[in-house]
Amino acid sequence: MKRTLVTGGAGFIGSHLVEALVKESREVLVFDDFSTGKIENIPDSKLVHVVKGNISDRFQVENLFKKYQFDTVFHLAAIASVVKSVENPEETHKTNFDGTLYLLQESVKCGVIRFIFASSAAVYGDLPKLPKKETDPVKPLTPYAVDKYASERYVINAYELYGLKTTALRFFNVFGPRQDPASPYSGVISIFVDRVIRNLKGENVAITVYGDGRQTRDFVYVKDVVKALLLVERCHEAVGRVFNVGTGKATSLLDLLDYLAKIAGKLPPIHFEPPRKGDIKHSLADISELKKIGFSPSFTAQEGLKLLFEWE
Ligand code: UD1
Repeated sequence: MKRTLVTGGAGFIGSHLVEALVKESREVLVFDDFSTGKIENIPDSKLVHVVKGNISDRFQVENLFKKYQFDTVFHLAAIASVVKSVENPEETHKTNFDGTLYLLQESVKCGVIRFIFASSAAVYGDLPKLPKKETDPVKPLTPYAVDKYASERYVINAYELYGLKTTALRFFNVFGPRQDPASPYSGVISIFVDRVIRNLKGENVAITVYGDGRQTRDFVYVKDVVKALLLVERCHEAVGRVFNVGTGKATSLLDLLDYLAKIAGKLPPIHFEPPRKGDIKHSLADISELKKIGFSPSFTAQEGLKLLFEWE
């Protein structure tokens, strides 16, 4: 029996993908080191099998592929903290790059049918041209971004070199339920929603806006990211290619606060601080390539925010 492998399946995006795969009655294997993923993120289903392990350990990856057979590999496991990659590039490189290489090697060896890799808009760096097209120059500025870009190239080249049917997706600013708001470098929406809810519960909390709040991002709801993952898996035209995943719409932090005020009825106090070092002013995806193969986002940032708020 063939299963679908989801590395990082206990994490934020991975767990939503696992949920969707279970809805399609697919047998799923979650491989996760539980460094940030949580067992309670994974749906409780007979279809899901969980193996605790580390993609940066070549022997663990080999053993996994010896023990189980996979049709598709969704490779979502990573150390997602850009700050950590700057502080400890060796450790993050092992996971964010070596791990990808081991998974590719095993996938080629074992005849995996589809291999989908989660890359990041971080590969574009701070180049000013907007919206970003997949053919635009890249400028990966941090070890995290360099590892995502290098992995992406290995993933795409694996199609040309070894015939493994690969696709890489560059996720823009993903948000939704189960994104951890704990660190100051967590996604801004997870932090803002956490503060709004705690404020409603009577806690003494505030929102910090770095800069003037007019910076914009392409905020994409996690269910749309799952939609893109499943779409490219089925699409022959997506093989050997890289796609942006976003909504194609820019939303500023001030817009977010406006939406949140409407949804929650009340906001905590807002403090404005100087912009963060290295912060980019605007980021926006051109999603025309993904649209050409049938993608359209189901949620605007505002709609996603409403769902997230209701979930919390
Ligand atoms: C994302 C990454 C970041 C990476 C960058 C480069 C995440 C969570 N962050 O940052 O690590 O360096 O891409 O591609 O994936 N903000 C506030 N208040 C807060 C938190 C954030 O004003 O409490 C601001 C930030 O300064 C930024 C904006 O909100 O201007 C968005 O921040 P964030 O969610 O971290 O996303 P990126 O800046 O796109």
